[in-house]
Amino acid sequence: MSTITVWFIRCAMIYFLLAILLGLQMSVAGPVYPWMPIHVHFNLLGWMSMMIYGVGYHILPRFSGKPLWSDKLSYWQLWLSNIGLIGMAAGWWVRTSTGESMVLLAFSVLEAISVVFFFLNMMLTIKPAPAPAKPAAPPAPAKK
Ligand code: HEM
Ligand code: HEM
Repeated sequence: MSTITVWFIRCAMIYFLLAILLGLQMSVAGPVYPWMPIHVHFNLLGWMSMMIYGVGYHILPRFSGKPLWSDKLSYWQLWLSNIGLIGMAAGWWVRTSTGESMVLLAFSVLEAISVVFFFLNMMLTIKPAPAPAKPAAPPAPAKK
């Protein structure tokens, strides 16, 4: 596996753990702010999307029989998606305690840019590829 795949999968699993802890906390406290949207997005943008990014970077170029369009863009995407998501969590916390939404907006834009980077990289990588050849038929048994 490439470094980018390993790091996306590691990050996905860390967000999963954090999201589950928040979920357990909300089972007692109820769907309260800011934990509710943080739980939701650590699960959906952290656990699920980052797992998909990691696995996608590994298998989609291979399925296409073509290298990834840009390794550099994938590194930028790893950083931006993490900074964006952690910043969004901070943004929900700031909005809940002060009513100020600008932090959430700024980091949401970074997260959205990271999605665009994945979109571009994959759109320029995937292409139809021929199916693998069928295995040769086993030799006929020798006549007696
Ligand atoms: C041990 C695992 C989990 C626990 C204990 C848990 C707990 C909770 C709780 C208590 C709520 C608030 C529900 C309410 O009272 O309205 C909630 C909401 C939510 N959870 Fe989880 N959760 C878990 C795993 C997950 C996973 C794996 C996902 C997605 C991949 C997920 C997605 C959501 C979403 C989308 C909501 C918001 C639902 C809405 O908008 O009403 N949760 N969760
Ligand atoms: C750049 C990406 C994203 C941004 C900036 C974003 C932003 C937001 C915001 C600001 C809210 C309102 C939360 C609140 O204050 O109550 C929200 C809610 C929600 N988002 Fe996202 N979101 C993103 C991606 C996603 C994705 C990819 C999913 C699902 C796969 C998702 C699922 C949800 C759900 C289920 C809710 C309702 C949560 C609740 O009931 O509290 N979001 N999102």
